[in-house]
Amino acid sequence: MSLFHENIEKNIGFMMGLILVLITVGGLVQIVPLFFMHSTMEPVEGVKPYTALQLTGRDVYIREGCYLCHSQMVRPFRAETERYGHYSLAGEFVYDHPFQWGSKRTGPDLQRVGGRYSDDWHRAHLNNPRDVVPESIMPGYPWLEKDAANAADIAAKMKALRVVGVPYTDEEIAGAAKELEGKTEQDALVAYLQNMGTAVKFNK
Ligand code: HEC
Repeated sequence: MSLFHENIEKNIGFMMGLILVLITVGGLVQIVPLFFMHSTMEPVEGVKPYTALQLTGRDVYIREGCYLCHSQMVRPFRAETERYGHYSLAGEFVYDHPFQWGSKRTGPDLQRVGGRYSDDWHRAHLNNPRDVVPESIMPGYPWLEKDAANAADIAAKMKALRVVGVPYTDEEIAGAAKELEGKTEQDALVAYLQNMGTAVKFNK
Protein backbone atom coordinates (compact mmCIF):
# COMPACT_ATOMS: atom_id res chain seq x y z
CA MET A 1 0.00 0.00 0.00
CA SER A 2 1.37 3.36 -0.89
CA LEU A 3 2.28 5.68 1.92
CA PHE A 4 -0.21 8.24 0.63
CA HIS A 5 -3.10 5.78 0.78
CA GLU A 6 -2.09 4.62 4.22
CA ASN A 7 -2.09 8.21 5.45
CA ILE A 8 -5.61 8.70 4.17
CA GLU A 9 -6.90 5.58 5.84
CA LYS A 10 -5.33 6.40 9.16
CA ASN A 11 -6.43 10.03 9.20
CA ILE A 12 -10.19 9.92 9.40
CA GLY A 13 -10.63 13.72 9.19
CA PHE A 14 -8.56 13.89 6.01
CA MET A 15 -10.50 10.96 4.52
CA MET A 16 -13.84 12.63 5.28
CA GLY A 17 -12.58 15.80 3.61
CA LEU A 18 -11.63 13.87 0.48
CA ILE A 19 -14.97 12.01 0.43
CA LEU A 20 -16.75 15.34 0.69
CA VAL A 21 -14.76 16.73 -2.26
CA LEU A 22 -15.57 13.60 -4.28
CA ILE A 23 -19.31 13.78 -3.60
CA THR A 24 -19.41 17.52 -4.29
CA VAL A 25 -17.70 17.22 -7.66
CA GLY A 26 -19.79 14.18 -8.62
CA GLY A 27 -23.00 15.90 -7.57
CA LEU A 28 -22.23 19.10 -9.44
CA VAL A 29 -21.35 17.21 -12.62
CA GLN A 30 -24.81 15.66 -12.52
CA ILE A 31 -26.84 18.64 -11.38
CA VAL A 32 -25.30 21.72 -13.02
CA PRO A 33 -26.14 20.78 -16.65
CA LEU A 34 -29.83 20.59 -15.66
CA PHE A 35 -29.84 24.31 -14.84
CA PHE A 36 -28.91 25.12 -18.42
CA MET A 37 -31.46 22.85 -20.07
CA HIS A 38 -34.79 24.40 -20.95
CA SER A 39 -36.52 21.07 -20.51
CA THR A 40 -35.30 17.59 -19.76
CA MET A 41 -38.02 16.15 -21.95
CA GLU A 42 -38.34 16.85 -25.68
CA PRO A 43 -41.65 16.11 -27.39
CA VAL A 44 -41.19 13.19 -29.79
CA GLU A 45 -41.94 13.97 -33.41
CA GLY A 46 -45.65 13.95 -34.22
CA VAL A 47 -46.90 14.76 -30.70
CA LYS A 48 -49.32 17.67 -30.78
CA PRO A 49 -51.11 19.49 -27.97
CA TYR A 50 -54.69 18.34 -27.37
CA THR A 51 -57.38 20.09 -29.37
CA ALA A 52 -60.09 21.88 -27.37
CA LEU A 53 -62.38 18.88 -27.88
CA GLN A 54 -59.76 16.29 -26.88
CA LEU A 55 -58.78 18.36 -23.87
CA THR A 56 -62.41 18.51 -22.75
CA GLY A 57 -62.59 14.74 -23.17
CA ARG A 58 -59.50 14.35 -21.06
CA ASP A 59 -61.14 16.34 -18.28
CA VAL A 60 -64.21 14.09 -18.48
CA TYR A 61 -61.86 11.10 -18.24
CA ILE A 62 -60.35 12.54 -15.06
CA ARG A 63 -63.68 13.61 -13.58
CA GLU A 64 -65.28 10.19 -14.13
CA GLY A 65 -62.31 8.43 -12.58
CA CYS A 66 -61.45 6.27 -15.61
CA TYR A 67 -57.86 6.25 -14.34
CA LEU A 68 -58.99 4.23 -11.32
CA CYS A 69 -59.35 1.18 -13.58
CA HIS A 70 -57.19 2.07 -16.59
CA SER A 71 -53.49 2.83 -16.91
CA GLN A 72 -52.02 4.75 -19.82
CA MET A 73 -48.55 3.34 -19.99
CA VAL A 74 -47.41 0.32 -21.99
CA ARG A 75 -44.30 -1.04 -20.34
CA PRO A 76 -41.37 -2.35 -22.38
CA PHE A 77 -42.06 -6.04 -21.77
CA ARG A 78 -43.05 -8.56 -24.38
CA ALA A 79 -46.30 -9.51 -22.64
CA GLU A 80 -47.32 -5.84 -22.78
CA THR A 81 -46.17 -4.94 -26.28
CA GLU A 82 -47.78 -8.05 -27.81
CA ARG A 83 -51.08 -7.11 -26.24
CA TYR A 84 -51.16 -3.34 -26.48
CA GLY A 85 -48.60 -2.27 -29.09
CA HIS A 86 -45.36 -0.30 -28.93
CA TYR A 87 -44.24 0.57 -25.40
CA SER A 88 -44.83 4.16 -24.30
CA LEU A 89 -42.19 6.82 -24.87
CA ALA A 90 -41.63 9.58 -22.31
CA GLY A 91 -41.92 12.27 -25.00
CA GLU A 92 -45.45 11.17 -25.89
CA PHE A 93 -46.71 12.64 -22.61
CA VAL A 94 -45.01 16.00 -22.85
CA TYR A 95 -48.32 17.93 -23.04
CA ASP A 96 -50.08 15.87 -20.36
CA HIS A 97 -50.66 17.93 -17.23
CA PRO A 98 -51.08 15.92 -15.07
CA PHE A 99 -50.11 12.51 -16.48
CA GLN A 100 -52.73 9.75 -16.51
CA TRP A 101 -50.21 6.91 -16.39
CA GLY A 102 -51.85 5.19 -13.46
CA SER A 103 -50.97 1.78 -12.14
CA LYS A 104 -54.32 0.13 -11.48
CA ARG A 105 -55.50 -2.14 -14.25
CA THR A 106 -58.96 -3.45 -13.55
CA GLY A 107 -59.48 -2.85 -17.27
CA PRO A 108 -56.85 -2.91 -20.02
CA ASP A 109 -54.20 -0.26 -20.59
CA LEU A 110 -55.57 2.47 -22.85
CA GLN A 111 -52.45 4.20 -24.10
CA ARG A 112 -52.65 2.59 -27.57
CA VAL A 113 -56.44 2.41 -27.80
CA GLY A 114 -56.65 5.25 -30.37
CA GLY A 115 -57.92 3.91 -33.70
CA ARG A 116 -58.44 0.37 -32.38
CA TYR A 117 -62.25 0.68 -32.44
CA SER A 118 -64.72 2.83 -34.34
CA ASP A 119 -66.32 5.91 -32.80
CA ASP A 120 -69.62 4.02 -32.78
CA TRP A 121 -68.06 1.17 -30.81
CA HIS A 122 -66.84 3.67 -28.18
CA ARG A 123 -70.25 5.33 -27.96
CA ALA A 124 -72.03 2.01 -27.48
CA HIS A 125 -69.35 0.90 -25.01
CA LEU A 126 -69.54 4.09 -22.95
CA ASN A 127 -73.36 3.98 -22.82
CA ASN A 128 -73.40 0.36 -21.71
CA PRO A 129 -70.20 -1.73 -21.97
CA ARG A 130 -72.22 -4.98 -21.88
CA ASP A 131 -73.77 -4.16 -25.26
CA VAL A 132 -70.42 -4.75 -26.98
CA VAL A 133 -68.45 -6.79 -24.41
CA PRO A 134 -71.01 -9.07 -22.69
CA GLU A 135 -68.68 -10.10 -19.83
CA SER A 136 -67.54 -6.52 -19.09
CA ILE A 137 -67.56 -5.23 -15.51
CA MET A 138 -66.97 -1.62 -16.59
CA PRO A 139 -69.72 0.76 -15.46
CA GLY A 140 -71.80 2.57 -18.07
CA TYR A 141 -71.60 6.35 -18.52
CA PRO A 142 -74.88 7.04 -20.37
CA TRP A 143 -75.16 10.66 -19.17
CA LEU A 144 -72.11 11.69 -21.20
CA GLU A 145 -74.22 11.36 -24.33
CA LYS A 146 -76.66 13.97 -23.03
CA ASP A 147 -74.41 16.45 -21.24
CA ALA A 148 -73.04 19.32 -23.32
CA ALA A 149 -69.28 19.73 -23.47
CA ASN A 150 -68.24 22.51 -21.10
CA ALA A 151 -67.19 25.45 -23.25
CA ALA A 152 -67.35 28.05 -20.48
CA ASP A 153 -63.81 27.64 -19.17
CA ILE A 154 -62.00 25.95 -22.05
CA ALA A 155 -60.10 29.12 -22.99
CA ALA A 156 -58.97 29.60 -19.38
CA LYS A 157 -57.83 25.97 -19.22
CA MET A 158 -55.78 26.32 -22.38
CA LYS A 159 -54.21 29.53 -21.11
CA ALA A 160 -53.27 27.78 -17.88
CA LEU A 161 -51.69 24.94 -19.88
CA ARG A 162 -49.76 27.47 -21.92
CA VAL A 163 -48.17 28.74 -18.70
CA VAL A 164 -46.76 25.26 -18.07
CA GLY A 165 -45.39 24.96 -21.59
CA VAL A 166 -48.12 23.71 -23.94
CA PRO A 167 -47.67 25.82 -27.09
CA TYR A 168 -51.27 26.92 -27.74
CA THR A 169 -51.57 29.92 -30.05
CA ASP A 170 -53.86 32.88 -29.36
CA GLU A 171 -56.04 31.81 -32.32
CA GLU A 172 -56.44 28.28 -30.93
CA ILE A 173 -57.49 29.66 -27.57
CA ALA A 174 -59.88 32.17 -29.13
CA GLY A 175 -61.50 29.46 -31.27
CA ALA A 176 -61.71 26.85 -28.51
CA ALA A 177 -65.26 27.55 -27.31
CA LYS A 178 -66.51 27.43 -30.91
CA GLU A 179 -64.94 24.01 -31.42
CA LEU A 180 -67.10 22.70 -28.55
CA GLU A 181 -70.35 24.13 -29.90
CA GLY A 182 -73.03 21.46 -30.16
CA LYS A 183 -70.68 18.76 -28.83
CA THR A 184 -71.51 16.43 -25.99
CA GLU A 185 -69.17 15.17 -23.30
CA GLN A 186 -69.29 11.81 -25.05
CA ASP A 187 -68.07 13.40 -28.32
CA ALA A 188 -65.19 14.91 -26.37
CA LEU A 189 -64.28 11.69 -24.58
CA VAL A 190 -64.36 9.69 -27.82
CA ALA A 191 -62.14 12.30 -29.52
CA TYR A 192 -59.70 11.97 -26.62
CA LEU A 193 -59.71 8.17 -26.72
CA GLN A 194 -59.27 8.01 -30.51
CA ASN A 195 -56.23 10.29 -30.34
CA MET A 196 -54.59 8.28 -27.57
CA GLY A 197 -51.15 6.91 -28.39
CA THR A 198 -51.44 7.65 -32.12
CA ALA A 199 -48.94 10.51 -32.46
CA VAL A 200 -45.94 8.36 -33.27
CA LYS A 201 -46.16 6.08 -36.29
CA PHE A 202 -44.31 2.95 -35.22
CA ASN A 203 -43.17 0.37 -37.73
CA LYS A 204 -45.03 -2.75 -36.75
C1 HEC B 1 -64.57 -0.35 -12.56
C2 HEC B 1 -63.46 -0.27 -13.48
C3 HEC B 1 -63.58 0.55 -14.74
C4 HEC B 1 -63.83 1.90 -14.86
C5 HEC B 1 -64.10 2.91 -13.76
C6 HEC B 1 -63.72 2.21 -16.26
N1 HEC B 1 -63.42 1.08 -16.97
FE1 HEC B 1 -63.08 0.97 -18.98
N2 HEC B 1 -62.86 -1.03 -18.84
C7 HEC B 1 -62.95 -1.78 -17.68
C8 HEC B 1 -62.86 -3.19 -18.01
C9 HEC B 1 -62.92 -4.33 -17.01
C10 HEC B 1 -62.71 -3.28 -19.41
C11 HEC B 1 -62.59 -4.55 -20.28
C12 HEC B 1 -63.98 -5.00 -20.72
C13 HEC B 1 -64.59 -4.05 -21.70
O1 HEC B 1 -64.05 -3.86 -22.81
O2 HEC B 1 -65.62 -3.43 -21.36
C14 HEC B 1 -62.70 -1.89 -19.90
C15 HEC B 1 -62.52 -1.55 -21.22
C16 HEC B 1 -62.43 -0.25 -21.70
C17 HEC B 1 -62.09 0.10 -23.06
C18 HEC B 1 -61.75 -0.85 -24.18
C19 HEC B 1 -60.26 -1.12 -24.13
C20 HEC B 1 -59.77 -2.18 -25.06
O3 HEC B 1 -58.60 -2.10 -25.44
O4 HEC B 1 -60.56 -3.08 -25.43
C21 HEC B 1 -62.13 1.47 -23.14
C22 HEC B 1 -61.86 2.33 -24.35
C23 HEC B 1 -62.48 1.96 -21.81
N3 HEC B 1 -62.65 0.89 -20.97
C24 HEC B 1 -62.64 3.29 -21.49
C25 HEC B 1 -63.04 3.73 -20.24
C26 HEC B 1 -63.36 5.11 -19.96
C27 HEC B 1 -63.25 6.26 -20.95
C28 HEC B 1 -63.74 5.17 -18.65
C29 HEC B 1 -64.21 6.37 -17.86
C30 HEC B 1 -65.36 7.09 -18.43
C31 HEC B 1 -63.64 3.82 -18.10
N4 HEC B 1 -63.23 2.98 -19.11
C32 HEC B 1 -63.89 3.47 -16.79
C33 HEC B 1 -63.08 -1.27 -16.40
C34 HEC B 1 -63.34 0.05 -16.08
